[in-house]
Amino acid sequence: MFGTDSKETLPQRFAQSHKAWDEYMAKIWKNLLHLVGCEADASVIEIGGGNSVKIGTALAQSGFKGSFHLVDPFEEALAEAQRLYCELLPDAQIHTHTTTLAQAKALPQNALLLANHPLDDMILAAGAGPHDAAELFGWTAIEHEQTIPLSLQVWTGIEHHPDMLSGIKDVIFAEWRAAIDTLKPRALIVSQYPSSTLKNAGMNGLNRHALDILKALRGLYASALIPDEDVQGVLNRVKHYNDKHIGKEVLNAANWLVARF
Ligand SMILES: C[S@@+](CC[C@H](N)C(=O)[O-])C[C@H]1O[C@@H](n2cnc3c(N)ncnc32)[C@H](O)[C@@H]1O
Repeated sequence: MFGTDSKETLPQRFAQSHKAWDEYMAKIWKNLLHLVGCEADASVIEIGGGNSVKIGTALAQSGFKGSFHLVDPFEEALAEAQRLYCELLPDAQIHTHTTTLAQAKALPQNALLLANHPLDDMILAAGAGPHDAAELFGWTAIEHEQTIPLSLQVWTGIEHHPDMLSGIKDVIFAEWRAAIDTLKPRALIVSQYPSSTLKNAGMNGLNRHALDILKALRGLYASALIPDEDVQGVLNRVKHYNDKHIGKEVLNAANWLVARF
């Protein structure tokens, strides 16, 4: 297993509370932000964070007072994130962009471009037809780990149409490539570790296809990647709590794209 063995077992709260899981993931993000070099007055862009505060909690622990741009089409989640971040990052400037990555305008160049586990949600959103972000992602406002029947319904609809699935993957890959070409970030960090919640809900295919997109992006930016050994060294400082899923997947450098341009 990857990570540090602290001889502790996984605290129950991690499975029951978004907040506890966000705090755990913030430790990983804090270490990776340090690895790529994130000054206190940097410009940071987070894609598809919804109301989760993993990345902002990591920034708060490093005394961040720069500008933080949140890009997400889900208006209510962004409003909640902004409220939380005004408390967590009182000296930072928080900017919200209620839009998808593809349609985002007025984002700064030369920023750090960051996203935690965005690609599965981008696939679902792209194939959701008439269902909007509030229907698809409203569960994130409820304080425990879950999936909803609509996610499975949308995913099944996509998976049963291979042409549609491959078209969605191509569009999301192109969405990231265009954003990176335009924004010219000085660092890029994206994670897409397989999710045990999706697996347990019969959506392991979504895990696999989302990871395909991450692998394609890792290939495209291979020359800018921080070597996996270095990223693994950083991930290994975080406790795995004897949890196979965390130790094999979340803390596995192969499931992260960490690049410096
Ligand atoms: C489950 S939530 C937040 C998960 C968060 N990334 C994390 O790991 O905690 C997924 C979010 O992705 C957003 N989203 C989906 N497609 C997107 C896109 N193309 N661009 C930006 N955000 C997107 C949704 O609106 C939703 O708020």
